[in-house]
Amino acid sequence: MTTYPRTWAEVDLAAIRHNLSEIRSALAPETMIGLVVKADAYGHGLIPVSRMALRSGADWACVATVQEGVALREAEIDSPILVLAPALELEAQQVVFYDLRSQIESFDIARALSKAATEQGRIAKVHIKIDTGMSRFGVQPSEAKELAVRIASLPNVEIEALSSHFAFGGGPRDYTAWQFERFREAVCEIEAAGIKPRIRHIGNSAAVVRFPESQMNMVRVGILAYGISHVGDTPLDLRPALTWKARIMALRELPAGRKIGYNCTYETSRSSRIATLGVGYGDGYHRALSNQGSVVIRGKRAPIRGLVCMDQIMVDVTDIPDATVSDEAILLGSDIPATELAALVGTTPHEMPTRIMSRVPRTYRGQ
Ligand SMILES: Cc1ncc(COP(=O)(O)O)c(C=O)c1O
Repeated sequence: MTTYPRTWAEVDLAAIRHNLSEIRSALAPETMIGLVVKADAYGHGLIPVSRMALRSGADWACVATVQEGVALREAEIDSPILVLAPALELEAQQVVFYDLRSQIESFDIARALSKAATEQGRIAKVHIKIDTGMSRFGVQPSEAKELAVRIASLPNVEIEALSSHFAFGGGPRDYTAWQFERFREAVCEIEAAGIKPRIRHIGNSAAVVRFPESQMNMVRVGILAYGISHVGDTPLDLRPALTWKARIMALRELPAGRKIGYNCTYETSRSSRIATLGVGYGDGYHRALSNQGSVVIRGKRAPIRGLVCMDQIMVDVTDIPDATVSDEAILLGSDIPATELAALVGTTPHEMPTRIMSRVPRTYRGQ
């Protein structure tokens, strides 16, 4: 039976395909694209996005966790998969069994992977992660060569890549340039010790457009591929891939002076038509958008009135007189960019699609 969800997200896979080809045009031919599909592909859907992208421009899938990597393998995706966040020694058997590449910063995890790989008769491929200035994860550059030499001596382990991560989205180039220099120096030292991994990667979306000289032979790109630029204007023609919608569930006419929502944070200043939409923070709609955000109904903006509830928000449709129950409202997409909502609540645009919860069904087109 057809269902009519009160809120849903429409994902245009053709837009992601298009964005990947735009990104590709900004890269050297030998540079591989690792599409970052962690956190359910930033809310766009891990499996459908990865399945399409790995056939259409992405060379690698980058996930945050071993579990996400396993989910991709179970969906019969056989492309290279990189687990970005630290894997635990406890996970070594799984990492090897599912042929996941892990970023590692210590000899202990390398030894656990070597043991698992030897037992399983496989090769564990590792990416030595170097902390050049993000201070989150990775071996210090001064210790990277020694770690690489020790790992190279382990049985059934291949050092496939050296990697790092930039701290700045689109901010000052100085720090990014400093990180890049530290990375290059560490790579040179490791190579001078006779260890020459075939891949080097440090760049993310911001670096692709703001620091392209850092692309090396692989970049790990997330947000740009979803059609969102968090670094302002770019020469790339990006198309937002996700449109989040909700329906008007109820409508009321209110006199001037009437309060709206929990804690009475809004009072009508005129006679108003208020629509109640079937979406709330329980679906991932940011509560900080209360009295700040707006939605689009019948091509016009309708401002949010009062606090965002768990399952509803109230919007002002006084100036949209033909708005009616069951009308669609656009919450996020080309008409309401993630950058706009993120600026209102003081967060990164990455968070906007990523926070859309699993009770919001996704529909797909453009396969
Ligand atoms: C290690 C790592 N690489 C790459 C990315 C992709 O970043 P972006 O979506 O800004 O391209 C992320 C995202 O957070 C990350 O954590």
